[in-house]
Amino acid sequence: MAGESGAGSLIGAMDAVVTRHPQVLYKMMHDAGPVVRTESADGGTVVVASRAIEEEVLRHPELFSSAGNSGQMGTDRPLIPIEIDPPDQRKYRRMIDPLFAPRRMRALEAPIEKLVNELIDRFGSASEIDFAKQFSLPLPSQVFLTLIGLPLDDLPRLLEMKDGVLRAHHVLGTDFDDPRCEVLKKEMAGAIYDYFDRALNNRESERADDILSGLLEGEVDGRRVTRQELLDICFILLIGGLDTVSASLDCFFAFLAEHPTHRRQIVEDPSLIPSAIEELLRYEAPVMMTSRIVTADTKLGECPIKAGDNLFMFHGASNTDEEGLPDAGEVKFDRQSCRHFSFGGGVHRCLGSNLARLELRIALRVWHSRIPDYRIKPGLELEFTPVIRTTYAFPMVLGASIEHELLP
Ligand code: HEM
Repeated sequence: MAGESGAGSLIGAMDAVVTRHPQVLYKMMHDAGPVVRTESADGGTVVVASRAIEEEVLRHPELFSSAGNSGQMGTDRPLIPIEIDPPDQRKYRRMIDPLFAPRRMRALEAPIEKLVNELIDRFGSASEIDFAKQFSLPLPSQVFLTLIGLPLDDLPRLLEMKDGVLRAHHVLGTDFDDPRCEVLKKEMAGAIYDYFDRALNNRESERADDILSGLLEGEVDGRRVTRQELLDICFILLIGGLDTVSASLDCFFAFLAEHPTHRRQIVEDPSLIPSAIEELLRYEAPVMMTSRIVTADTKLGECPIKAGDNLFMFHGASNTDEEGLPDAGEVKFDRQSCRHFSFGGGVHRCLGSNLARLELRIALRVWHSRIPDYRIKPGLELEFTPVIRTTYAFPMVLGASIEHELLP
C-alpha cells in the first residue's frame, strides 16, 4: 500500500476517469516502455509497468527499500512491517503471520457467511441500495474489528481516522496538494496511535481470542515486542483491514455489474468464484501501486536509475503486461494460471491476503446465490479514489434482468 504524499504529483494527476478504468492508463504505460525514469527538481521518478521488472524489484529489497517510505501516512515513525527492510522486517513477519494463517482464517468462514446474509437481509425489498454504504464498507470493517478485538461501536471514529490518513484531500474536499491535508493526516495518525494505546491497555488487563491479545504475546529476537512496536504494527493493520477489501468489493461489483456475461458465469457455476477472484484481482488491482526508494545507482532492464529515486510499481500495469500472459487485457474466469501482483510480492507480500480472499469468496458466493441480477444505477458514473480504488457512493439497482441487459 502507498500513502499519498510520497507519491506526490503522480497521485495528484490521477483523476476520476483514470481511477475508475485504470486499464487505459496501464495501456499507455505499456506503450511508453516497461520502465520509465523522469527527473524533476524533486529528483528522479521511476515507473514500473512490467511483470518481469516488478518481479526483479520485489526480489531485491536491499536495492529497492521500503524504509524511505516512512511518513507517507502522517506518522513520525516507520510502520511495521511495511516501512522497514529485511532483516528486521522478516523477524516481525514471523511474529505477525501466524495470527493471519489460513487455519485461523478458516474459523471465520461461518461468521462471515452469517454477516453477508444479514447485510443482504437488511436490504429488505428495496430495489435500489448504496452498495458501498450497505455492503462493501460494513462487511470487511465488521470482520476486521471482530478479528482484531475492537468494539463495533468504534467503527465510525476508526473510519474517520483511516480516511483522514489515506485521503485527507477527499475528507477536506480540496486539492491533493492543499497544505491542510498534511495537517489532518498527522492529526489522524496521532489519533490512531492514541486509540490503539488505550485498546492495548484494556487488552493487557483482559486477554481474549483476538489479534490484539496475540500481538501482546509477540516476541522478536527472544524479547517481548515493545508498546511502541505494537502501535507501529496496529496502525498498518487498521489501514489494511478497513480499506482494501472494501475497495476490492467496489472494483469487483462495478466490473460484474457492467459485464453481465461474466456475472452469469459465476451465477451458473459458483465453483468458478475462486478463479474469478484471482482474475478480478489481477485485472482490477484494487491497490494500484506501491513505492520504493532506490538505494544505489543501478539498471532496470535497459533503464539506468539512481540512488534516491522514487520508484512506483503499478500492479495493474504489470498484471496486464502481455509478456508471459497471453490476452492479459481480457478478463477470463477460466484461466489456468493467473499470477498477479495485486498483493505485492517478495518479503512485503500482503499479510492479510488469506483474510481478504476468504471474505471475497464468501461475499461473491452468497451474494450471487441471492442476487444474481444487479446494475449500477443508470445515468451514474461511479467515482473511485486514487491508489486504493474505492468509492464512497455506489448506487446499485437490484433485480435488473441479465437477459434484458444482453439484448442488443
Ligand atoms: C484484497 C485486499 C488487499 C489488497 C489488494 C492488499 C494489497 C497489498 C499490497 C499490494 C501490499 C504490498 C505493499 C508493499 O509491497 O509495499 C500489501 C501489504 C500489506 N497488507 Fe495488504 N492488501 C489487502 C488486504 C489486506 C488486509 C485485509 C490486511 C490486514 C488485515 C492487510 C495488511 C497488509 C500489511 C500489514 C502489509 C504489509 C506487509 C509487509 O510489509 O510485510 N492487507 N497489501
